[in-house]
Amino acid sequence: MRVLVIGGGGREHTLAWKLSRAEGVEELYVAPGNPGMAAIATCVPIAADATVELAEFAASLRIDLTVVGPELPLVLGIADEFVRRGLVLVGPTRAAAELEGSKVFTKEFCLRHRIPTGRALVAHHREQATAAVKQLGVPVVFKADGLAAGKGVQVCHTRDDVDSAIARYFEAHAFGAAGERVLIEECLEGDEVSFMVLTDGLSVLPLASARDYKRLGDGNQGPNTGGMGAVSPVPLESGLAATILRTIVHPTVVGLAAEGRTYRGVLYAGVMVTRDGPKLLEYNCRLGDPETQAVIPRLDGDLLPLLRATAAGELGSQRAVWKREAAVCVVLAAGGYPGAPERGELIAGLGDALAQPGVLVFHAGTALQDGSLVTAGGRVLSIVGRGATVAEAAGVTYEAVGRVHFGGMQFRRDIGGGLT
Ligand code: AMP
Ligand code: GLY
Repeated sequence: MRVLVIGGGGREHTLAWKLSRAEGVEELYVAPGNPGMAAIATCVPIAADATVELAEFAASLRIDLTVVGPELPLVLGIADEFVRRGLVLVGPTRAAAELEGSKVFTKEFCLRHRIPTGRALVAHHREQATAAVKQLGVPVVFKADGLAAGKGVQVCHTRDDVDSAIARYFEAHAFGAAGERVLIEECLEGDEVSFMVLTDGLSVLPLASARDYKRLGDGNQGPNTGGMGAVSPVPLESGLAATILRTIVHPTVVGLAAEGRTYRGVLYAGVMVTRDGPKLLEYNCRLGDPETQAVIPRLDGDLLPLLRATAAGELGSQRAVWKREAAVCVVLAAGGYPGAPERGELIAGLGDALAQPGVLVFHAGTALQDGSLVTAGGRVLSIVGRGATVAEAAGVTYEAVGRVHFGGMQFRRDIGGGLT
């Protein structure tokens, strides 16, 4: 088979690594890929959001299966482009991906299908926003309707926060077209859980549990990032997974199919476990990054049959078996991240890190410059260690992290801390 992975980050490197080991994969392509992926696949210089160009490329090479990492091509309709050409792609259509593409759509969808979520109002201008905040009270959450590279949400704890959010969303128009409509949502309290499943529009196959560490600093301090680390598995309260499936995920899959938006692909629910039970915070239409780096290495057996069954509507016949080992992923970020990351710093020590037993290294913001590996983006590398327990896996990961160096390197020292 010829397989194409779309994207160039740590999540896509992990998918490509796993697929490169699958039985039946003869040729593996990645677009655009990264220097780490170049060692296991052929990199094709097409951007991940160039949906038509990617479909034409896949048609010309007669690619048997395409896997999409990031949300942007899905929200832009890459699945529709592929289907139109008779090509098999794992990922929702544009209409189904609206679950991530529009927070207003998702909120209204939840109301139609009685899916538990926070109360919210839609604001088009500051007067509506002020009225919504008055109705919902403070704390309150502002969310740009469209895609905003993970930066569209602001939790306001005080009146001052609300004033600065109103200025940011409605005067500075910080989110452009994505912020024309703003969802103003009640602030939910509780523990946050990420819940990822594969679905073919009918059957649902949960992936292994994982936790993401979104803040830049130890102890969950500092600014929000795309994710500074991940752990799998994490203990979920007994019955919680079943409740999330019953009250949130199943009604979503059934409701989308009933509305003519049948969802095939990865569905990722961000859930707040409140005193009144789990409530949906947001949906993503793809795997989490860096959750994937901790989850996929734990999959026992091939990923390929699961992905093919998802695309073909035959997921009901599949099972996923997870290794009993734990995996801990630590992201090495560039200096300046998440603001303006520094680039062009020489990366040293990767060979040493990889020589440790149980260690995997996935590239994201790396580039080759005059034959040397240098930094080229915010999240530079994911270092993954595996062990019998989370504590053991974290020990393996941090031993390897200690061997890697580049100027300005930032990472969290508490990933997996407190978990056994
Ligand atoms: P989202 O992009 O919707 O996941 O939001 C980013 C982060 O903002 C989430 O991971 C939560 O930590 C937080 N958040 C979003 N919505 C709410 C809410 N209604 N109440 C409290 N925190 C929220
Ligand atoms: N790690 C969070 C996300 O992928 O959205």
